[in-house]
Amino acid sequence: MLDKIKALQDEIKKITVQSADEAEHLRIKYLSKKGKISELVNEFRTIPNEQKREVGQVLNKMKAEATDFINNLKAEFANTKTDEKSEDFTLPGSLMKLGSRHPLSIVRNEIVDIFARLGFNVAEGPEIEDDFHVFTALNFPEEHPARDMQDTFFIEKDPDVLLRTHTSSVQVRVMEKQRPPIRSIFPGRVFRNEAISARAHCIFHQVEGLYIDENVSFADLKQTLLYFAKEMFGEKTEIRLRPSYFPFTEPSAEMDISCTLCGGKGCNVCKYTGWVEILGCGMVDPHVLEYSNIDSEKYTGFAFGMGIERITMLKYQIKDIRLFFENDVRFVEQFKSAL
Ligand code: DAH
Repeated sequence: MLDKIKALQDEIKKITVQSADEAEHLRIKYLSKKGKISELVNEFRTIPNEQKREVGQVLNKMKAEATDFINNLKAEFANTKTDEKSEDFTLPGSLMKLGSRHPLSIVRNEIVDIFARLGFNVAEGPEIEDDFHVFTALNFPEEHPARDMQDTFFIEKDPDVLLRTHTSSVQVRVMEKQRPPIRSIFPGRVFRNEAISARAHCIFHQVEGLYIDENVSFADLKQTLLYFAKEMFGEKTEIRLRPSYFPFTEPSAEMDISCTLCGGKGCNVCKYTGWVEILGCGMVDPHVLEYSNIDSEKYTGFAFGMGIERITMLKYQIKDIRLFFENDVRFVEQFKSAL
């Protein structure tokens, strides 16, 4: 028995291999369940008990060395790729999965692009704001409910530090720094203390627009928004402006577009009215211009603000706003864009 073990040991020591395949054959030949070493182990079971101690030690040692030796041979070939198959350069490469843009980014880029064609540039402001830029400079009365803890996330009180509830605050930031003419849009995140549901979220996105110059009129506002609606939702889209109220614009309006789904005939998206609301707008209130030291006798302007989620939901017929924030790849992968 000891001789056989020695012989096998010598046999294994002499082995050389040229490829990973050969090394694998060796592993099967010597180390597998039916391999040569296993044969010896089986034979070992039949030898007289008094020899077992001595023979067992030699056998175990040989087995451990052989296993190491053969595994090392295999490892060498795993690292150096002499395997012909892996060098076949004619094989097609493995596909790299491309990412896709988030639908909100697609629509934001599209909005920016449409207004860029009208000469609007892009500006941004901070998400963490103060009372002055979010409310006071926008003509919000002291007791306005939007200033309430119920609607606004406050970080600190006295002096107020808060998360902006709308991108209108960027109007103030821009007017502080820049003199008219101003023709800009401000995309960004906003925060409101709202219960999360299919239609509302505590974090969402808006795009704000501001145009200030001499002789800017309501007709300019209407034409700008009509152009935007047609570019965004299609040539056949119609708009209507309904009188509304915002502290920072006078007069103020809300804009509806003809329902993108039924074309105005009536369906459950437009609640059978044929119209869906997409934004708020108006002529910048002279108080707001004066707060930022812009001469309201010389200059007039218009402003508008829209929710990107709302526009995206209409455009892609998405029924639940929460889908935008879950980042389930099965959802986000469905959107491809050039922008
Ligand atoms: N800031 C408003 C909101 O969050 C939207 C808005 C309305 C913005 C009218 C405007 C505007 O610039 O003129 O609901």
